[in-house]
Formats: sequence, C-alpha cells, structure tokens
Amino acid sequence: MVLDVLDVEDIDFAGFTASDIPDLHGTLAELRARKPYAVVPFAGTRAILLLTHDLVTAAFKDEATFPASAIYPLTTGPVLGHTIQCMAGREHRVNRALVTPAFRRKLVASYAGTLLEPLAHDLVDRFHRRDEVDLVAEFTERYPVLVITRMLGLPAGDEEVLHRWARDLFHYPMRPADAKRASAEFTAYLTPVIEARRREPGDDLISTLAGTEVEGERLSDEQILSFLRLLFPAGADTSTLALGNVLAALLTHPDELLRVREDPDTELSWAVEESLRWEPPVALLPRVCPAAADWHGIAIPAGTPMIFGITAANRDPGVYPDPDRFDIGRRAMATLAFGDGPHTCLGTWLALAEVRAGLKVLLHRLPEIRLVAGADARIGGRLGAALRGPAALRVRLRR
Ligand code: HEM
Repeated sequence: MVLDVLDVEDIDFAGFTASDIPDLHGTLAELRARKPYAVVPFAGTRAILLLTHDLVTAAFKDEATFPASAIYPLTTGPVLGHTIQCMAGREHRVNRALVTPAFRRKLVASYAGTLLEPLAHDLVDRFHRRDEVDLVAEFTERYPVLVITRMLGLPAGDEEVLHRWARDLFHYPMRPADAKRASAEFTAYLTPVIEARRREPGDDLISTLAGTEVEGERLSDEQILSFLRLLFPAGADTSTLALGNVLAALLTHPDELLRVREDPDTELSWAVEESLRWEPPVALLPRVCPAAADWHGIAIPAGTPMIFGITAANRDPGVYPDPDRFDIGRRAMATLAFGDGPHTCLGTWLALAEVRAGLKVLLHRLPEIRLVAGADARIGGRLGAALRGPAALRVRLRR
C-alpha cells in the first residue's frame, strides 16, 4: 500500500491554529528537526505546515500553486467583501496599484513627525500621571486604530465606535454575528463619507482612493469599502500585536531595553526588526493548494489546506543562529513577517513607521517603565495560534 502524504499526522494535537499552543516555538522546533514540513490536524481535516525559511519563502512567492484567491473568499470574504487579498492576476495588479500610492515608503516616513508621534503623545497624555497602567488596553490596542482613523480623515470623536468595529471584525470567524453586524454598520457609516469625498476631495486616504486612476480604471464604492474594511484587521490588529510584542520583548529583556535607551537612534529600529523576527504577529498563515502538486519533493493532494509557518521560518536555525534568543545585535531584517510575493504586506512601511514612532514616544515619555512584579507578559495566541501578542502588559510608570 502506498501512503498518501496526509495519511500520517506528525503531531497529536487537536486543531492546529484553532486554539493556543502553550509551547508553540518548542513544538515547531521539534517538528522542524524531523523534516522541513509537518502534517497537522486542522479544521477537522489535515494540513501541511511549512517549517523552514526556504519553504515558507518559496510558498509565498508561488501564487500559481497556493493562490491567495483560493482561501480569502472563504476566510474573510463573508465580512470584509472582495478585498485585494481575494484577487488574482490583472484584477489584483490593478487594484493594488490603485491603493499603493497612499502607502509608499517616502510618503509614510513623512507621517512620523506630523501624525504618528503626535497621536502617540496624545495617548500617553491620557495615562502618564498614573502609577500603573496596562499598555495593551491603554496604548497598543488604541494607537493603530487612531492612526487609521486620522489617515481616513474621520472625526476623532468616532474613535470608540471604530475601535469596537475593529475588534468585532477581528474576531471573525470566532464570533460571526458580531463581525457581520460590525461590517454592516461600518459600511452604512462610510458610504456617505465616500460620496462626500468624491464631491469634495481632501488630503485624506479616502479621497486618494476615490481619485486615483490606473490603466483607465478607478475604484468603485464597493472596492473602496472592502479595502477600508480590510484596513482594520490587516492594518490595525497586526500593528497592535507588533507593538505589544516589541514592548513585551524589551520589558522581559532589560539588557536589550537598556541598549535601546542608550542609543535609540541606532538601536530602536533594530529592536523592532528583531521583535518581528522573534514573534511575528502573523505567526501561522492558512492557504490552500487547489490542484495536486509535486512541490519541493512533497506530493500535495488537490485541496490540501496549507499553513505557512512564518514564526517557524523566523526561528530556522539554518538562517538565524541561536534563534530563540531575542538579540537586537543580530541586525536581521524580519522580512517574512510581512509575507512575500504578490500579496506581500502593502502596509509594511506604515507598520514599521508606526511601531517605531509608538515605541520611541513610550520610551521617551515613560523613562522608568518596568513590568509590575509578577505581571504576565507572555506572548500567546490571540486568535487561536495564528496571531500572537501579549494579552496585557501591566507596567509601573514610576519608581
Ligand atoms: C506589523 C504589522 C503588520 C504585519 C505583521 C502584517 C503582515 C501581513 C502579511 C503576513 C501579509 C500577507 C498575507 C498573505 O500573503 O496572505 C499582509 C498583507 C497585507 N497587509 Fe499587512 N501587516 C502589518 C501591517 C499592515 C498595515 C499597517 C497595513 C495597512 C494600513 C497592512 C495592509 C495589508 C494589506 C492591504 C495586505 C494585503 C496585500 C495583498 O493581498 O496584495 N498591513 N500583511
């Protein structure tokens, strides 16, 4: 009898990615030591989990074998709509070109002093006189939503409701009713705003999206709406987790924190890069292989769910010596944290600028911060095991 690649599971674990895995990095390292991929239980069936830097990079670049358009219509389509993550070929190329100008590196870098740092200061103003604060509840969950709200030119007073919609959209498909309601409310709120910006454009992102033309095409209202719906889970929640992860890393590695404090101009960006390698917010990314493929020596049956193990690739000892160590001095760019290939993160430069600005302001304004004695700064699964960040970061602000 010839065994199919999916016949034998490499790990006995109920539902990879659906629930948090207590020692995720240890588990992945053990699996990777056996072979570069593993067959794991997933959503009532079995998935192939890619574990090495080479395989994960190759998989991201290989849209023909693992098209994003085969998975996103199922996983996010029902609440976010037909986003660019659901698109392929020319449709993806044109739609991506239409939204790209607003996220260019140079433009986004100019936001640091005008938008990002002032917003971070506003948030710190709200709590800096207290003795103790949870930085997740008071800062990391709020700041990226504020950034997007301002970029869209929406009233600052709507922050709370946008924050709630962002949270509810994030929890799809775990809490589908809340996510669907948030999607409908968000659409009703934004439709007249788009109409108004078409009539009278300003210098905000919605006006830019409404006005840009590529190959004779402009974005329809529904295309703008699905892009804006995507911005919250793709742009705000990921940045929340990234900021939480770099803070958690520094607060639990005082020597590395000191290094950043002593020379922030050089070390702060490397701390952000290293934290994105050490704990990428998108840790495990589901895809599917629609047609049977003989791929890098793996005979993959048609319809096999795939998991791109970004966090396993980022701790591949073949690429990063002593990979479990959080070490700013390794000067490694954490590019895979943002994916690769045609669907690579559109918001990479914004995310980096945002996390750096947030961290810079926090360290400057709160020179004494340290974890409250006994506080749990563990980075764990926030939506199953797929997305990772700290649940809370309770810190003392003064001695
Ligand atoms: C540290 C924060 C972030 C991380 C770790 C991150 C990670 C990722 C990853 C891994 C992908 C690839 C998904 C795939 O191939 O299926 C992606 C795509 C995307 N990201 Fe980000 N992201 C971050 C921040 C942002 C921000 C701030 C924005 C925009 C405001 C954004 C917008 C997008 C969009 C629109 C896509 C889809 C691109 C496409 O399909 O062509 N992301 N992101």
